Amino acid sequence: MAATHPFRDELIATASTIGTPGKGILAADESTGTIGKRFANINVENNAENRRAYRELLVTTEGLEEHISGVILFDETARDTVSDGRTMIECLTSRGIVAGIKVDKGPRNVFSGIEGETVTQGLDNLDVRAAEYYAMGCRFAKWRAVLKIDVASGAPSALAIHENAVTLARYAQICQQNGLAPIVEPEILMDGTHDLATAVAVNVKVQAAVIEALHEHNVLLEGCILKPNMVVPGQDCPTRASPQDIAKATITTLRRTIPPALPSINFLSGGLSEEQATVYLNEMNKLPGRPWTVAFSYGRALQKSVLEAWSGSADNVPAAQAALLERAKANGLATLGQYES
Ligand code: 13P
Repeated sequence: MAATHPFRDELIATASTIGTPGKGILAADESTGTIGKRFANINVENNAENRRAYRELLVTTEGLEEHISGVILFDETARDTVSDGRTMIECLTSRGIVAGIKVDKGPRNVFSGIEGETVTQGLDNLDVRAAEYYAMGCRFAKWRAVLKIDVASGAPSALAIHENAVTLARYAQICQQNGLAPIVEPEILMDGTHDLATAVAVNVKVQAAVIEALHEHNVLLEGCILKPNMVVPGQDCPTRASPQDIAKATITTLRRTIPPALPSINFLSGGLSEEQATVYLNEMNKLPGRPWTVAFSYGRALQKSVLEAWSGSADNVPAAQAALLERAKANGLATLGQYES
């Protein structure tokens, strides 16, 4: 029986708006624990008011809509308001920026006998939560699966690849049934000693498994966004790769695995510096053979200099907003292959 998608047209429209050439996603969905780590770097206390003030400065940045098509929020922020009383979500949607929501509950080590591999939690009641987020004005969602490469132990194991692919597909299917376009994020960490060729081989295996699982679960690819890592040699690999090598390896991997039906590929930054994340993206967008929008969904690579400029002080909000606009504009240009460092 053919799958039914009650929100079909809206899902396609949402994914296509997010994939608007020249724009990408701001991932501002750090969990309370993760934003605490970012605040610790700038000596800011991790309390509700500081989190609110910081997220307010992000969502009220004037001109953000010129380079940012979507912002991913954490549950707390999605329920929060800015100083003039509007919800954070209203601040975004009134300017044509799509509001998104992180719905996963984090990776957990649940495999007995396998060191350090995880499956992401959060499927219980996801249908109820997705329907509530839709009613609040969110139109897309994010779920991050985490895999690692360890040549010595053979990670990622076939079990971890399979379980994470199926879990991502279950999440994507539940979100689509409730009107949220899913960001499917299978992150393969940069840690490790593996070389670029190994990274390509593992990334192809993981992406192929994810796409197969999406098909098995009747996920509408046209209403879906992929959020992969860039394909890089392991952080401790003695042989480094140029931005051109990384761009070619990444696009080759995606061409081998991701159907053109999926409209937009929005990379995570995964610990790359702000400049690296922009330059690698720009190099990819100079290569031929990209049937999808190739853009960004950066957390750290859009916020590092913003956090430093802000440092927890209201006086610094204009400087922090200027820093955000600068990174957003640079990455917007990189989605067109027009960034010049
Ligand atoms: P980074 O760009 O900092 O990797 O964060 C993106 C993200 O949302 C990870 O889930």
